[in-house]
Amino acid sequence: MNFDDIIALDKADPLAHKRAEFALPVNTVYLDGNSLGALPKVVKSRVAEVVTQQWGEHLIRSWNDHHWIDLPTQVGEKIAPIIGAAPGQVVCCDSISINLFKLLSSALSLNSERNVVLSTEDNFPTDLYMVQGVSDLLGEDLCQLKLVAEQQITQSLTDDVAVLLLTQVNFRSGQLLDMHALTKHAQDKGILVIWDLAHSAGALPVELDKCNADFAVGCGYKYLNGGPGSPAFLYVAKRHQAAVKQPLSGWMGHAKPFAFDAQYQGADNVNQYLCGTPSVIAMSALDAALDVWHDVNIFHIREKSIALADVFIKLVRSQSCLADLDLCSTEDSTQRGSQLAFAHDNAFAICQALIEKGVIADFRAPNILRFGFTPLYNSFEDIWKAVTILADVVYTQLYKEPRFNKAVKVT
Ligand SMILES: Cc1ncc(COP(=O)(O)O)c(C=O)c1O
Repeated sequence: MNFDDIIALDKADPLAHKRAEFALPVNTVYLDGNSLGALPKVVKSRVAEVVTQQWGEHLIRSWNDHHWIDLPTQVGEKIAPIIGAAPGQVVCCDSISINLFKLLSSALSLNSERNVVLSTEDNFPTDLYMVQGVSDLLGEDLCQLKLVAEQQITQSLTDDVAVLLLTQVNFRSGQLLDMHALTKHAQDKGILVIWDLAHSAGALPVELDKCNADFAVGCGYKYLNGGPGSPAFLYVAKRHQAAVKQPLSGWMGHAKPFAFDAQYQGADNVNQYLCGTPSVIAMSALDAALDVWHDVNIFHIREKSIALADVFIKLVRSQSCLADLDLCSTEDSTQRGSQLAFAHDNAFAICQALIEKGVIADFRAPNILRFGFTPLYNSFEDIWKAVTILADVVYTQLYKEPRFNKAVKVT
């Protein structure tokens, strides 16, 4: 594969025009959209308008006049088609962690004859921490966390399992779980499933309704490009909405918040999962970022994501100095999300040296160098540049310099 092949791939790319919609810094190859998505240009003008006109000029009238009060549902409905959900099932609110607390509580009370929450050992820690918190609160008789390896999920769906809590794409390895098959296996055994879509919403086609999913959560700050700390979303299948309850019974989830009734009466739809006042500026940023998706075919996203990763692997393998980078994501692109993980003893220092050279990737303890591919704005030329610089950092042993071996707070 040579540079002409790379240019040809970019020329044939049906998503190539989307890159111009992002404010990407010059001389930077951004391969960390799986952690924090890049800034869509439209977000800049929207945030400026929300702050200057809506807040600055219209003040409190904007709750009605600029529909601030509708943002959680409006943003939820924009996310819904990206994750294969029909209207009326997705709202935007809070963080994944908090939304997990609400959904775990709902699912455990729907399945109150059982007490086990089954998850995977390598799930993202906050998912496991939230179960541990619910377990501390309710006691082990009502909630007990059990962890198994990804390969053992199906055989672990025993009669005591109330809830199966899975992340569709593993945050470290990028391993993609089979949502359709696992949901069906679990439901056949009377188990409710909560899917964490942090690394799949906007990265690949997600088909919540087609998979007959029960519940899901996801974030706005990765592939949806809503900005740092962007609000999260949650999905509750229509068929559960009349029966579920959740304990964070704040006024925004009340059937009539502005009746100011002393008695809580949750909305009889997904809005009961709203809790307190929405973060208007952050939610407006996400709302604007989602407009980037209006002409995007998610199947083109998937095709390009696979192609970017495959080219990355091919180029890495063509460099003998990169032989020590050990691919720990599967070779089978149909079983991967939109990222690649390589193990290396000096992964942290290599990552720091790459960043100084303008290639932004990230490090995940203990020894993983992670590259995320965002088809909306990554080009094949980005991949070429990234591997060329990676080879240079490793070949020259630049990463051994002391400045690349100093601990940082956020990796
Ligand atoms: C799979 C997964 N779940 C949850 C989170 C974080 O959730 P929160 O929005 O509560 O910070 C992340 C963060 O990267 C994640 O990768």
